[in-house]
Amino acid sequence: MQSIKQYQEYISEYLAEQQIVREPKNLYEPISYILSLGGKRIRPTLTLMTAEIFGANYKEALPAALAIEVFHNFSLIHDDIMDDAPLRRGNETVHEKWDLNTGILSGDAMLILAYQYFEQYEPIVFRDLAKLFSKTAIQVCEGQQWDVDFENRDTVTITEYLKMIEYKTAVLVAAAMKMGAIIASTSTENCDLIYDFGLNLGLAFQLQDDYLDAFGDPATFGKQVGGDIIENKKTYLYLKAQEFSTAEQKEELMHLFSIQPDDTADKVASVKMVFDKTGAAKATQEGITVFTMKAFETLEKMHIAEDKKAMLRLFGQNLMSRNV
Ligand code: IPE
Ligand code: IPE
Ligand code: MG
Ligand code: MG
Ligand code: MG
Repeated sequence: MQSIKQYQEYISEYLAEQQIVREPKNLYEPISYILSLGGKRIRPTLTLMTAEIFGANYKEALPAALAIEVFHNFSLIHDDIMDDAPLRRGNETVHEKWDLNTGILSGDAMLILAYQYFEQYEPIVFRDLAKLFSKTAIQVCEGQQWDVDFENRDTVTITEYLKMIEYKTAVLVAAAMKMGAIIASTSTENCDLIYDFGLNLGLAFQLQDDYLDAFGDPATFGKQVGGDIIENKKTYLYLKAQEFSTAEQKEELMHLFSIQPDDTADKVASVKMVFDKTGAAKATQEGITVFTMKAFETLEKMHIAEDKKAMLRLFGQNLMSRNV
């Protein structure tokens, strides 16, 4: 077992060894660009950490970890097109820096590149990893479709919302961890428990992402603050604001989410005020804690040493206190 920082360094080193750019450059340069912008590398870190928790050497998990990170970055390129996002990790999004077609095709290529990393595993592990990956990738597409569909709906239930974020975000965090467990050839019970841990951590993670999208600091957040509000996203903040609002606030919120002003600053400020006043902001913070604690409960059932559980808890705590 090594430190979280150490695992992140292993990923950066492994990524630096990859020869990504080749001809045609217009296909590969955007791939290299998005990957070089960094990000938190949460998912691959979890893959390496989980592999070692269940007794493998992190090196065995590097290809799977990178597969997950490449897939994640592919999903971000396409997500930024769908969300009309100008900024990613403090830089221009791929479709803004190049164009829409580049974002689509470089993204497609990344999905295939991600799959190719599994070819480095022997047949049985390959089959298990590829199977989990395919199931996860299609769920991400389903979650993303719901996310977009909800933009045009006035009401979405919390249950529908939770299913949507489970699919678009949480299953990938869960799969990243389960892959580490598969590579370490641990028991099915451990594989399922670690998946469950990752799933709840992923739900907390997306609630936090929703929160930061509205209340993050523009100087450090790296994405357009208020982007979800501009796009009329039915986030946890929005749903809780609807639930807690007075008739008057409800009407205001409905009105704000029905207009597409050229100057979006007023809309963002007004919606944030409603999020705050209704207690939706606070409820979102509470939700983050609830799902993180649910993840921690799974650890109780897991047969691993206490120091390993402590590391997973630390990871969860760090995620809760992040501001990017
Ligand atoms: C952003 O993921 C997309 C979501 C699922 C919320 P991250 O917040 O992990 O993005 P990076 O990789 O650190 O930039
Ligand atoms: C993204 O959700 C989920 C995927 C990329 C699959 P968001 O749209 O909230 O992610 P950000 O906020 O743009 O990173
Ligand atoms: Mg987005
Ligand atoms: Mg999105
Ligand atoms: Mg977001």
